Amino acid sequence: MSVLEKISSQDAIALEEKYGAQNYHPLPVVLSRGEGVYVWDVEGKKYYDFLSAYSAVNQGHCHPHIISALKEQSEKLTLTSRAFYNDMLGKYEKYITEYFGFDRVLPMNTGAEAVETAMKLARKWGYEKKGIHVNQAKIIVCQNNFHGRTISIISASNDPLATENFGPFTPGIFSIRYNDINALSEALQDKNVAAFMVEPIQGEAGVYVPEDDYLKEAHSLCRQKNVLFIADEVQTGVARTGRLLASCGNCSCRDKLCSGTPDVKPDILILGKALSGGVFPVSAVLANNNIMDVIRPGNHGSTFGGNPLACAVAIAALEVVKNEDLAENAYNLGKLFRSEMRKLIEKSNLVRLVRGKGLLNAIVINDDEDSSTAWDICVALKENGLLAKPTHGNIIRFAPPLVMTEDQLLDCVSIIFKTILTFEKKMA
Ligand SMILES: Cc1ncc(COP(=O)(O)O)c(C=O)c1O
Repeated sequence: MSVLEKISSQDAIALEEKYGAQNYHPLPVVLSRGEGVYVWDVEGKKYYDFLSAYSAVNQGHCHPHIISALKEQSEKLTLTSRAFYNDMLGKYEKYITEYFGFDRVLPMNTGAEAVETAMKLARKWGYEKKGIHVNQAKIIVCQNNFHGRTISIISASNDPLATENFGPFTPGIFSIRYNDINALSEALQDKNVAAFMVEPIQGEAGVYVPEDDYLKEAHSLCRQKNVLFIADEVQTGVARTGRLLASCGNCSCRDKLCSGTPDVKPDILILGKALSGGVFPVSAVLANNNIMDVIRPGNHGSTFGGNPLACAVAIAALEVVKNEDLAENAYNLGKLFRSEMRKLIEKSNLVRLVRGKGLLNAIVINDDEDSSTAWDICVALKENGLLAKPTHGNIIRFAPPLVMTEDQLLDCVSIIFKTILTFEKKMA
């Protein structure tokens, strides 16, 4: 079969089922084109994308500014490895560090790689700066976290799907309850703790938003105990939650794209996904000199990390976020979306609650955790032209591209209303 040959949805699914590892359970839709907030399947049906590749496509599909940077750079130089300097990396490093207000960046590719990098950085800092005894460093994480799927990262997971039969695990990682400041305070009594790693909103777990002061208090406890505060903003970062970063989302500063001195400035910031607008795998670990200077040649790296194509794409993707006021749009549309969902909750017994920040939201379906209702609703939403996916059990995450307009959002709201109310009638 030629790769140029047209393929039906059915055939494309059959190929994946026969030749691919079955490590995902996709919704039965086969996409072949995307533009802005829309995607099209191979039969030409148009959908609203209400997932944005798990918040990677914040800037919308195939954003022309990002694609043109990709095209232009791909004709000049794509990869040098870090054996040599290239003329894009330094420019990107200056751009991204000034953008987010840090001294240095360590460029990687995927979110999981950046999380691994942050964990290594924190351990090394723990030994060399904090004076923790050899091999005694601990990293505190939160229950129900999602930081990726490598062995060390799943060592921090309590999800049986991610961990069962993948042991033995990496030692030195301990989990406490999310959104529980007392649990953190207790864990930080241990002098061997090098870092606390947290998602400002737990996205994969079902869009759990902590109490307003949780991050601020956690950050201040870490400061008191000389423990690094690591914010994993792979999903929440880059304007998704109505601020450039979710970790500084509660600070008193109302500046749209603040990189000044917010209440919560992570010691280590992890970014991925939307750093490239979903065009190319680009992730980053940002920190100040006093932390990043423990890394020396040979300690860490990646053949593709910091490649010129990634640098050009990431600069363009971050420019779009600023130029198009995506954080502000996410903030405003998010408020509107949750208020519309509250109206739905009044009319429907099937939706129990809505929660989220900016355009990272979820509704909880009024059914058992392990029921198929959320999945069935997503299949019905697909039939009606909107693509979303359950997170865990009966929770549906709604995360459209941030370039959405108010009219488009209201159109999506009416699809969600119609689908859920019809679904409910059928169930009755
Ligand atoms: C908070 C968080 N960290 C890390 C990751 C892992 O990123 P990747 O899938 O690019 O490895 C994800 C992915 O969903 C995530 O949500």
